[in-house]
Amino acid sequence: MRITDTSDLWWKTAVVYCLDVETFLDDNGDGVGDFAGLARRIDYLADLGITCLWLMPFSPSPDRDDGYDVTDFYGVDPRLGTHGDFVEVMRTARDRGIRVIVDLVVNHTSDRHPWFLEARKSVDNPYRDYYVWSKTKPKNDAPTVFPGEESSMWELDEKTGEYFLHSFYRHQPDVNIANPKVRNEIAKAIGFWLQMGVSGFRVDAVPFLIEAPKDTEIGDPHEFLRDIRRFLQRRSSEAVLLGEVNLPYRQQFDYFGGAAGSELTMQFDFIGMQSLYLSLARRDPTALIRALRQRPEIAPESQWANFVRNHDELTLDKLTEKQRNEVFEAFAPDESQRIYGRGITRRVPPMLEGDPRRIRMVYSLLFSLPGTPVLFYGEEIGMGENADIPGRSSVRTPMQWDATPTGGFSSARSSRLVAQPPGDGYAPEHVNVVAQRDDPDSLLQHVQRLIARYRASAEIGWGEFEVLEHDQKAVLAHSMRSDIGRFVALHNFAERPMNVQLRLDDEAEDANLVDLLGPERMPLDGGHVSVELGAYGYRWFRVSRPGDGRLG
Ligand code: NOJ
Repeated sequence: MRITDTSDLWWKTAVVYCLDVETFLDDNGDGVGDFAGLARRIDYLADLGITCLWLMPFSPSPDRDDGYDVTDFYGVDPRLGTHGDFVEVMRTARDRGIRVIVDLVVNHTSDRHPWFLEARKSVDNPYRDYYVWSKTKPKNDAPTVFPGEESSMWELDEKTGEYFLHSFYRHQPDVNIANPKVRNEIAKAIGFWLQMGVSGFRVDAVPFLIEAPKDTEIGDPHEFLRDIRRFLQRRSSEAVLLGEVNLPYRQQFDYFGGAAGSELTMQFDFIGMQSLYLSLARRDPTALIRALRQRPEIAPESQWANFVRNHDELTLDKLTEKQRNEVFEAFAPDESQRIYGRGITRRVPPMLEGDPRRIRMVYSLLFSLPGTPVLFYGEEIGMGENADIPGRSSVRTPMQWDATPTGGFSSARSSRLVAQPPGDGYAPEHVNVVAQRDDPDSLLQHVQRLIARYRASAEIGWGEFEVLEHDQKAVLAHSMRSDIGRFVALHNFAERPMNVQLRLDDEAEDANLVDLLGPERMPLDGGHVSVELGAYGYRWFRVSRPGDGRLG
């Protein structure tokens, strides 16, 4: 398959940017971000170079889990705007060449969803079977996904005397996917948002969603995921499912639909992300290399989504206890920076003690590892967390646009803001868009450059990954090769500068290495080349052959 023939597989070379409308820009001055505010910032996102916007949940919700507790799958939370405001964002984004995907949170509803309000009225209510009930508390009960916050997955419903299942908080009852009516409702919601113009979904909690409720016979649970994918594709051939599946690679392979690629289009690489942090802590890329090599071979249309931070805790649950402790000690030395015994509640720059060299190296990796990069809002300017906000919410503070105390997020009084920005060295006064926009040495411009180069290097999303041989243990040298060319990157995980003797034996005599982030052009002398790397340095190259017709 030639890349040139498959450019419609846009997600293979996308730059995804995740944001919560609530914390991006407040247009009406009530302290809460809104769609009208986001519409005013689409040009900023276009300038940054992103190609796909992932909107976190924005449906009506009591907001007890940041919108992941929905009361109306078709609505827009009135605090954030109306359908009209949503459409305006869609129109502006499309005009600037940005696709939009939205969170699909259908493993559960809020306990205030009309279905659940009905369901708990009586055991014979028509909506009873929309949820999962048990007459007694099941013996194999386990703590939920949030240990310390919830001790059981089953909650007694006082009125009807039965227990309902909730994989997450007790106010988020799991829906019963064995019920065809529920499956139909899920399909309808998907169809609705596709009709509103979205290009797909970030699918929340996929393994929980397709799990068969106790005592029900649904056959192969993956058939449900295949059903969703078929429905999606019938309605929109360009739409994708980007799934949250934090499982070992072997199982992730199944969630892609194996070699057929018939289930999720993309999946976050949780294993790669966790290995990256172990490598950073050890100043040795071996763990990351091992993970990348263990990635199963997926269908050409499937894709890995790389990320270094998201809106949840930075989970380290797939590391061994010893490895996890190494990462904890390096990046979350204080117990208060950890959560659920498995994760970290900090953003990247504070974890890396604000060292600009290391921070830039991490983002250079994000944009050059095989797959599609996903940014969490504020990463491009190096925002920190507000350590005074407990739990996962510490990283969900307002976007910092300027140096004013509210970061230009809102004209409301500080006390009315949906969340308080950090007050330390990461306060808006120190970290904001305006200050970095015109500074060529800023992180913002660095990320912008990386994005531009990534977008000109389709090999990163498409190519065949290879770890290159050389003589420095602390350096990851890799290449991505496809029919359009070969991209080469080097990353130094150590603080000491070094010289790497790289071997690219199979390249033509007259090939050159063209520096993609600087002016250099080096002849590939018999396949051998010597590359200088600064402390935590990184270099991006393209193997250029005379007459290959590529710019740089
Ligand atoms: C995963 C989401 O990322 C998280 O924020 C949420 O709390 C749970 N799913 C429940 O929806």
